[in-house]
Amino acid sequence: MGLENRREEGPDVYQPAEDSALLAEAVRDRLTTAELVLEVGTGSGFVAERISDETNARVIASDLNPHAVRQARGGGVETVRADLVAPFRDETFDAVVFNPPYLPTDPDNEWDDWMERALSGGETGRAVIDPFLETVGRVLAPDGVVYLLVSSLTGVDEVVERAGDEGFSAVAVADESFPFETLTVLELLR
Ligand SMILES: C[S@@+](CC[C@H](N)C(=O)[O-])C[C@H]1O[C@@H](n2cnc3c(N)ncnc32)[C@H](O)[C@@H]1O
Repeated sequence: MGLENRREEGPDVYQPAEDSALLAEAVRDRLTTAELVLEVGTGSGFVAERISDETNARVIASDLNPHAVRQARGGGVETVRADLVAPFRDETFDAVVFNPPYLPTDPDNEWDDWMERALSGGETGRAVIDPFLETVGRVLAPDGVVYLLVSSLTGVDEVVERAGDEGFSAVAVADESFPFETLTVLELLR
């Protein structure tokens, strides 16, 4: 992706960080037969681009943030503006990938802009993860798989329990520890 494009969209779009790289590499290493992949919440398009460049998958991406949609498209990613998986057809994707907003945020400290949408998971950290888990099963092909990045700050056990309520079993396939959190990539299968 051109640096110019990054500069134009910069402050309104989540730029790739350690979580983005952990997710991209975990998915790349595990994707074997997947042919059609959806990245929800693509931001800059970094994760979608890496999966597309480093596997044989065709990758479609979505984001609620119009600036992110523009930046990801600028990098060559097929991107639609969408709330989670809403516009996509049933039983479509072999894999769905999501690095969600996961930071627990005190409502008094929330700031109402696109970066808040990228970072804040509301009071529990799971305000976007829960509706994602409720809806993602609809667009998964039979035998499809979900890769979801979570943080120790989000409550991994709570996410695994919620995924179980939606019919998924979860396995941690990658993790990385930092001074204030551990990031984990969960693989969810039905
Ligand atoms: C932590 S950022 C991850 C960005 C990028 N995937 C990465 O890993 O670098 C979360 C992204 O999810 C998007 N997002 C938040 N809520 C969303 C929703 N309901 N539907 C689609 N995207 C959403 C944000 O706009 C943001 O781009």
